[in-house]
Amino acid sequence: MNREDYWYIAAESSEIPRNGVVSRSILGEWLAVFRNDAGELAALQDRCLHRTAQLSRGKVVGGHLQCPYHGWTYGQDGSVSRIPSMGPEFRPGSKCAKTYEVVEKEGYIYVRLKTGSASTPFSMPCHGVHGYTTIRLQNRFKNTVTNCAENFVDIPHTTFVHPKIFRDAKHEAFGAVIVRENGSVKVTYQNERKNFGWFSWFLNPKGVEIGHTDEFFAPNITSVHYRFGGKNHFIITSQSVPVSEEETLVYTDLTYNYGIWTLPSRPLVRWQAQVIIDQDVEILNNQMKTIQKYGANFQNSPADIIHTWIESIQAEVAEGRDPRELPRRETEIRFWV
Ligand code: FES
Ligand SMILES: [Fe+2]
Repeated sequence: MNREDYWYIAAESSEIPRNGVVSRSILGEWLAVFRNDAGELAALQDRCLHRTAQLSRGKVVGGHLQCPYHGWTYGQDGSVSRIPSMGPEFRPGSKCAKTYEVVEKEGYIYVRLKTGSASTPFSMPCHGVHGYTTIRLQNRFKNTVTNCAENFVDIPHTTFVHPKIFRDAKHEAFGAVIVRENGSVKVTYQNERKNFGWFSWFLNPKGVEIGHTDEFFAPNITSVHYRFGGKNHFIITSQSVPVSEEETLVYTDLTYNYGIWTLPSRPLVRWQAQVIIDQDVEILNNQMKTIQKYGANFQNSPADIIHTWIESIQAEVAEGRDPRELPRRETEIRFWV
């Protein structure tokens, strides 16, 4: 397995209407993703075979993608279906643009750069389940997928980057059990009673112990679950898409069930989450600047075991090995927040 073997989100379904096209970059590869009038999707390398104009700047005509420069037109299989300057003498033949596999699932459009691996697009937890609602956000980070994913499952930063709004320093010890298995890292926290700052009067008014788990799935997904007693359940799932080596587009799903408050609270939850993510964008963009200047030589504390195990998985993927074959590891840590 390497990074090209996995599925990445190219767009939300609603971003590509019938006869619509968008331009995307995944792992540095340029893509034109378009939909025909029957709703079917295709992804072509975003480069016309003729004189290399970007196909995504063209339009979809009768379900086929037309280049904006001289009008060469491509079918969903990438084959050239029309060359206007040849008029009726054109015979569809051997010319074919590079295509990629596309799958649509749970309101996301996924693309995979390499065919043939056993990977499948991730299933977003509780998406569409009765009683739950989902809020979707997109944010661009000037940093790597691994540093973004590490941030999304990093508790010690929350009191510094998101004071008041997410978590205030209380100088309390947290316990956590960390397990690495099957290409994933799962952290189960103990004795957590308060988070989300001032928001906790709403999320956890009785101050019960929160069931909190953080998971990382190779090579780009994190999923954070909070259970506040009863049915109250809040999930933040982030799919980090490698636009290039230095840029990551993060699709975040906030999926939650708060009983009768689920729908009325949507505007507040969306606003609050975006404020928190903006703070993460700022610190992660800054981190990347120093990485570009001085390199990524990280020192670790016990709380960073989570991150070093994520990095061990990413190193396997970078080497083209299957991270599911890494030996299982489990440990318990204690850290202060
Ligand atoms: S460059 Fe696309 S038709 Fe000429
Ligand atoms: Fe954060």
